[in-house]
Amino acid sequence: MGVIESGNLTGLGAPQGVAVEREFGEFVGTRFCLAMNAGSHALHACAVAANLSAGSEFVVPAFTYGASAMGPALQGATPVFCDVLPTTYNLDPASVEERITERTRAIVVVHLHGMPADMDAITAIAERHGLTIIEDFAQAQGSTYHGRNVGTFGLCSATSLNATKNLPAGEGGFFVTDDEQSEVVARRLRYLGEDMLGSEPSEGREYWSWALGWNYRLPEIPAAIARSQLRRLPAYNERARENAGILTDGLSEVPGIVPPMEPEGCRSVYYAYRIRVDADELGWSRTPGELRDRLVRALQAEGLRAGLWQHHPLPAQPAFRRRLQPWHPSNDAEPLTAWDPGEFPIASQVADETLLLGAGTAPWAAQSNQLAHRYVEAVARVVDAIDELARAELDPIPRTTA
Ligand SMILES: Cc1ncc(COP(=O)(O)O)c(C=O)c1O
Repeated sequence: MGVIESGNLTGLGAPQGVAVEREFGEFVGTRFCLAMNAGSHALHACAVAANLSAGSEFVVPAFTYGASAMGPALQGATPVFCDVLPTTYNLDPASVEERITERTRAIVVVHLHGMPADMDAITAIAERHGLTIIEDFAQAQGSTYHGRNVGTFGLCSATSLNATKNLPAGEGGFFVTDDEQSEVVARRLRYLGEDMLGSEPSEGREYWSWALGWNYRLPEIPAAIARSQLRRLPAYNERARENAGILTDGLSEVPGIVPPMEPEGCRSVYYAYRIRVDADELGWSRTPGELRDRLVRALQAEGLRAGLWQHHPLPAQPAFRRRLQPWHPSNDAEPLTAWDPGEFPIASQVADETLLLGAGTAPWAAQSNQLAHRYVEAVARVVDAIDELARAELDPIPRTTA
């Protein structure tokens, strides 16, 4: 209401935008923080700051949100997908190293569902090969790796404020860095190439574009919401961790259910909670995917929310199997290149055999502990009734294939 009454809905030097940059920068612990109108745009800014362009390659996990790869790809760089770990669903350092070529310039590290990636191993690889690290911590505001906030390991990092996140403001994002040059690059990109500081009065504006940029400015209302949510973020993260603790303790006792692993020294904020269903352990004779789908449907029938997220690894999706361009009928005619699930055995397994408990619109950060207990009971009950589950008439989960 204060923003509306102020009459200042957006623009340079607008007070909510200036304050939220200072406050989030302090929260993460970086020298610079630039508010943007999407996490995807902050990732694009990271790609520009890392000087990714046509001819360069970057390594990115095969199982993540499209934005992790699309920001750099829109810059003309080629994504080279690596496999993920079966324990944390984060990028597998051994697979990262296998995918490095003489053209590789960067590694996009994603802290998936809030779980910090193995930063010691990834930093060592980056140093060995002279690569830049970009962190996508869209799902991990407040996650720590051996006591250090994620988002502070890379040259620059991006996070998201979209409505489902632990720090939700509707839409928006932050670009953070300790590097002076990267800050200037991202700042100019955010304002159609103009060299505008967030705190400059707009009367001082010279309308002088140094380079191409785009409009990535965050308006005042989401900035104000983000400030308010930032004060609650530690409590939200604590709640998500409590709920994840209840789920992991309870589900570890259920045969055939594999909860996510939190490695030593890692502190996840559990933006999402993913489990794997071990069809062999349950003596399931049909495909693991069918068991997973039936489990999702049965949980839904119990009145609980469960589902998939990223139904296919990124390299399976048409966006990455033809010229890296926005969709247009003229390029839709191009044949898709082949994709081999065998190159990404774990990412493929994650897409086929895992499910999310909960839903993006009802994040664990805002759910009661009782609900977490209800999930444990429901999963145990459904697994116990596996013979009935095999016979039941349940709709498969639709998954587009190409
Ligand atoms: C891992 C990951 N990266 C990037 C993004 C992009 O963020 P935004 O939706 O704010 O553009 C998201 C959020 O949806 C995400 O989950």
